[in-house]
Amino acid sequence: MKPFLAIIVALSVAGLAKCAIIGRVVCDSSIAGDIYGFGATPVNGTIADRISFDVYQGSVVLVTNVASYNTRSTSGFLELNDLMSQYASQPFMVLAFPSTQFNREVPESNDEMMDALFYVRPGNGFVPTFPVFQKTLVNGDGEDAFFTFIKSGCSYTEEEFNVDLEYSPMTVSDFRQPFEKILVGKDGKPYFRYHASVDVSVVIADIDALLAA
Ligand SMILES: *[C@@H]1O[C@H](CO)[C@@H](O)[C@H](O)[C@H]1NC(C)=O
Repeated sequence: MKPFLAIIVALSVAGLAKCAIIGRVVCDSSIAGDIYGFGATPVNGTIADRISFDVYQGSVVLVTNVASYNTRSTSGFLELNDLMSQYASQPFMVLAFPSTQFNREVPESNDEMMDALFYVRPGNGFVPTFPVFQKTLVNGDGEDAFFTFIKSGCSYTEEEFNVDLEYSPMTVSDFRQPFEKILVGKDGKPYFRYHASVDVSVVIADIDALLAA
């Protein structure tokens, strides 16, 4: 190997090792405010179908930014429906926000989203049993106020930023990729934040604890 190549390889390996994933973060749930003053419009609805999040008072709520063209799209959506059936008899809800700001991973229009889920990823007639909202800016200029609130009190779950980000400016608390999650307690405040790679069993343990609280 040529010396300069060896240096590049060594630097890349060092770079990978440095790219720390924190996984699960405990949020500061004493922050002012709650999710109940916010709301959003389902991707298959009109403004008349807007859901005000105060209907989730007393529920544990899992907020996640989703994408239809990501390596986790199939497993991620299937997992969310599984959580909904696992907690069907309890005050629990998933709220999913397609986010277009990472590698163009939501190529379809809002109108096409339900069909993309039904026919492509996950496909096989998949219908979400939780609301999927219209495409949402989760970071950067024009960031949705709900995401400004939900990320406040929670620090990042990954040190590095990914490439091909379609927003600016970058902020340390930004979501880094699709299928990050923030778990909200029965009081409407964020309690835990998870990197997209965190196993669902970790999230389930926290949902159980917050439901029991
Ligand atoms: C959106 O799709 C879901 C899942 O099929 C359905 O339950 C809901 O009623 C639809 N909403 C509207 C406004 O059509």
